[in-house]
Amino acid sequence: MLYIYMEGHDFRYDLFHLAKVFWPDIEIVFLEDRDEYRGEGCLLESILYEEDGEAYARANIYLDGHCHPGQSKRMDDIDIGRDSGIAIIKNGVKQTIYDALLSISARRAPWGILMGIRPVKIVHDLLDKRLADKRILEILIGEYRLDLRKANLLVDIGKRQRKYIYPMDDDRFSLYISIPFCPSRCIYCSFPSVPISRYADMVTEYRDRLIREIEGIGKLMAGHRINTVYIGGGTPTAIPAADLDRIIRSVYKVFGRKSIGEFTVEAGRPDTITREMLNMLKGNDIGRISINPQTMNDDTLKAIGRYHSSMDTERAYYLAKEIGFDVINMDLIAGLPSEGRKDIINTLMAIEELNPENLTVHTLAVKRGSKFERTMDRYRIGGQETIEEMLEESANYAYRMDMKPYYLYRQKQIAGNFENIGYSKEGMECIYNIAIMEERETIMGAGMGAVSKVLLPGKRIRRVPNFKSMEEYMGRVDELLERKRAGLNFEG
Ligand SMILES: C[S@@+](CC[C@H](N)C(=O)[O-])C[C@H]1O[C@@H](n2cnc3c(N)ncnc32)[C@H](O)[C@@H]1O
Ligand code: SF4
Repeated sequence: MLYIYMEGHDFRYDLFHLAKVFWPDIEIVFLEDRDEYRGEGCLLESILYEEDGEAYARANIYLDGHCHPGQSKRMDDIDIGRDSGIAIIKNGVKQTIYDALLSISARRAPWGILMGIRPVKIVHDLLDKRLADKRILEILIGEYRLDLRKANLLVDIGKRQRKYIYPMDDDRFSLYISIPFCPSRCIYCSFPSVPISRYADMVTEYRDRLIREIEGIGKLMAGHRINTVYIGGGTPTAIPAADLDRIIRSVYKVFGRKSIGEFTVEAGRPDTITREMLNMLKGNDIGRISINPQTMNDDTLKAIGRYHSSMDTERAYYLAKEIGFDVINMDLIAGLPSEGRKDIINTLMAIEELNPENLTVHTLAVKRGSKFERTMDRYRIGGQETIEEMLEESANYAYRMDMKPYYLYRQKQIAGNFENIGYSKEGMECIYNIAIMEERETIMGAGMGAVSKVLLPGKRIRRVPNFKSMEEYMGRVDELLERKRAGLNFEG
């Protein structure tokens, strides 16, 4: 049990998640009164106080009858390249807690005090202020407590993304289309999607509602310039090729085929990829597709509920290359049940043989709402060191395949507190992935579970989510368009 007592501040959320980085499974209780601590378990005391007119933070730990006093941090000594007083104070409080927890924990926290999903954004903000790389690294390591490798990775990725983000253009937007059908439910997945076997007779109606929404978005965005289109899910190729064809053609009709700079279809599951499907996509000038192995270990594929084999992945890949797709992405997950370093090396060797243009390496996240969360006790998941080794091997193989990291994001329940990284060969980066992660342009979302993100003045983002249930989505498309219209209104 970990007791937390806060004085002078209420960064409850941040403290909770920072403590979870060091002790993922620990139960946490916040004490309203310091005297409620009776000496059992561990007490983390976080105090924000004033002395001689200056603000300080300090964190002490009480464990097994011993006090581990932390050092005081003066807020005026913190330089995070931002003036916001609250951001500095929060940073200072978190630094003292991080240092206190690190001093007694066996676990490491490679991402330091950063909790956010989009850490590269910090680098963009600092680059926007024209700070030198050396200064940015100092801030990341000194004030955010990142380890050197993560700090270098962030700066490297941020700089690689700049040419795709800048100059910023308020009129530019991208379009995300959700096709929420899948051949089967993977145990770790929490994305909004339904099994195609049960919902097959709803596909036509879904397609028509979706097209109606796409047309509505076309009207709302008249006068704006479309940048990229991404059809994801779910598994877009789980529906019949003719239906997906209609959807893609509606996009062209509304936005103009030549206006779209990049068009991706996440084919995803190899068991949905047929020659007919690929020919249809190619005929529609789809430049980028994903064929996702997750792992090339057939036993693991069975265990995670993916009803395809590693051979299906290879077959689909060679077929796509024969048909002439320029950019193929492959998704992997590090930390799948019973997998370790050797397993990911086997997977990476097979992928190196295929030589795709992009590789996206996710770290397993035990998401709320996934079957995995409910049945986790049955599986053996690698510890922090194993996952770190797996990620290092992925980085090595990406390098051998001539790929560089170009986007990165983190998730809450991610194993070992690591990250997801997209690698790409030079010039083959998926611009949509950068746009969705860095939030420097508006993204309009169509379909069940899709989220629109409107870029407001001052680089703020307004989320306008669609319904996550099929029934609600189908019945309320006009209402969703109305919400988008309101969301696009900067006055509101
Ligand atoms: C939207 S999902 C769908 C892609 C496609 N339907 C498929 O499964 O191949 C995109 C990617 O997120 C990753 N992913 C999904 N759930 C995850 C989880 N719980 N932990 C880590 N990665 C996950 C997988 O690598 C997956 O390919
Ligand atoms: S991981 Fe992909 S195929 Fe599996 S359930 Fe999720 S969206 Fe569907």
